Amino acid sequence: MRTPDPAEARQFIDSSRFVWFHKMELAPGVITPGVSDIGWLAGAAGLPQDLSGTSVLDIGTANGGAAFMAERRGASDVVAVDIYPPSWFGMDRLIELLDSRVRFVQASLYELPEVLGRRFDLVLCWGVLYHLRHPLLGLDALRRLTGARCSLETAVADREVDPGQPVVRFYRRDELSGDGSNWWAPTTTALADMLASCGFEVGRLVPVPPGEPASRAICDLVPAEPEWPAICYEVPLRGVPLEA
Ligand SMILES: C[S@@+](CC[C@H](N)C(=O)[O-])C[C@H]1O[C@@H](n2cnc3c(N)ncnc32)[C@H](O)[C@@H]1O
Repeated sequence: MRTPDPAEARQFIDSSRFVWFHKMELAPGVITPGVSDIGWLAGAAGLPQDLSGTSVLDIGTANGGAAFMAERRGASDVVAVDIYPPSWFGMDRLIELLDSRVRFVQASLYELPEVLGRRFDLVLCWGVLYHLRHPLLGLDALRRLTGARCSLETAVADREVDPGQPVVRFYRRDELSGDGSNWWAPTTTALADMLASCGFEVGRLVPVPPGEPASRAICDLVPAEPEWPAICYEVPLRGVPLEA
């Protein structure tokens, strides 16, 4: 992986015609014009500085900010996934510019266990859960992709609903941040319950911002036995993905 020189990075940004979501340092002192500061998010999520030899899956990669950061931190195998084609967020051009080994896959989280057919040491799922119309289906898929650890960042509804209640708020139109692709936000209590149901043990749940009802939460997750099949069914059923 290479670091372009500042003039080349500036020229790349000026000539880009794709959507910039991430604010990230492309070259020393050259910051991309996105709205989301991936450096801040990686710090808040506790992304390890040393990822030597690990496999990392970045779901909902947008401009690949987290995926490229994982590669720079030594991850040996990084897969970046988005529902949009690689040209939408310029992943094809960014991979070329950075001479990166990140592999881009266009797919939805729901289908990833079948499309990729493997687990990853570390799965990043930042800013995706509230975009899903079927959040439990998404979390079941996330569990099947997680080898050792998963970092999840998502919107929570603690400002709209009693945070102590296991309630999930549905947004019929664009009520969440004026974005019609946002469907659900759980309270932090509901989020923890959903994660346990789908087979994640929550190691750390950081409300953002701290000290007031949260609008986002960042969770460190480790895989555990999914709770729901044993509660729901006495025997394994055809078509129900019971395998952890
Ligand atoms: C809010 S952005 C978050 C980008 C990045 N993960 C971050 O946190 O900075 C959501 C991203 O998830 C992608 N996305 C939405 N639904 C998805 C799905 N079902 N499977 C995979 N990616 C999805 C979007 O295209 C977009 O790139």
